[in-house]
Amino acid sequence: MKILIVDANHSERQELEHMVQKLGHETLTASNGEEGFAIWRTEGPRIVIANRDMPVINGLELCHQIRGAEGSRYTYIMILTANDDTEVVVNALDSGADNYLTRPCSLAELKAKLGVGERIVEIESRDTVIFAISKLVESRDYETGHHLERMRHYTRLVAEYLYDNNIYREHVNSSFIENIYLTSPLHDIGKVGIPDHILLKTDRLDDQEWEIMKTHTIIGYDTLMATCNYQLKTDYLQMGAEIALSHHEKWDGTGYPHGLVGNEIPVSARIVAIADVYDALVSKRVYKNAYPHGVSRAIIINSTGKHFDPVIVEAFQALEKQFVEIHQRYR
Ligand SMILES: [Fe+2]
Ligand SMILES: [Fe+2]
Repeated sequence: MKILIVDANHSERQELEHMVQKLGHETLTASNGEEGFAIWRTEGPRIVIANRDMPVINGLELCHQIRGAEGSRYTYIMILTANDDTEVVVNALDSGADNYLTRPCSLAELKAKLGVGERIVEIESRDTVIFAISKLVESRDYETGHHLERMRHYTRLVAEYLYDNNIYREHVNSSFIENIYLTSPLHDIGKVGIPDHILLKTDRLDDQEWEIMKTHTIIGYDTLMATCNYQLKTDYLQMGAEIALSHHEKWDGTGYPHGLVGNEIPVSARIVAIADVYDALVSKRVYKNAYPHGVSRAIIINSTGKHFDPVIVEAFQALEKQFVEIHQRYR
């Protein structure tokens, strides 16, 4: 990671630069806030360490300037101080800094605090990438509107309900809840690999076209699993892949692509299945009008044990008010 160090004191700047390099990072340096801001603009480092006390533009002012100009690409900023008086620290955080370093700082402290910065920057990049991919899918699919936004809210709602009621605890924990929120919008990512004349066809698909359409599950799975090889933390991508693969499986084994039965279907995909069908029912699509909630609810309940996991249907019934609210909020 590229890290910008802004400090007017030459020897102290050099010392910090060596420490940062020792931790395996690339460094950029500036001797005052003005120069620092210019370098930040052109080089775009994601982490900045700035001395609080500098002539012309001090560290706090630099912090203000970066926050005002950074847009949606977050910069993690640490302020370097001579002491850690509460007032000094509060002042730094108030100016928009994320953390502070007190001189002299040890390599261990610097490593730990840079680690926090890296994690924050990484999470932001992850969320942005997932959002961008989801939007790509949306751009090619007729199920547009806020379908994907609603999906993440429905699925998180159900996951939270299962967690709170101790259901499927071997699968559903706090990272499951976060991951399903993050990756349920990717369920149809494989549709980018389906030819337009099939994906966008408004008439009924013939048998051969339908077989091709079904492969969006496998294309999505393969794409996301291939991405796993390039990431260190892949639990969310793995969940995205299992959702992409299994969101059309049915509890009684009549779904696709593998005809999985009951508990063979990942819990995440079982949750996405019910959310996806409910949303399709209550929304207008090119081939159908929107059904009222009551009708959609009855269709879901009728499919208990056939299409859907009975336990998840129970959760849906307990949460139906919130389902209606989510649908109305993201219309
Ligand atoms: Fe699908
Ligand atoms: Fe969908």
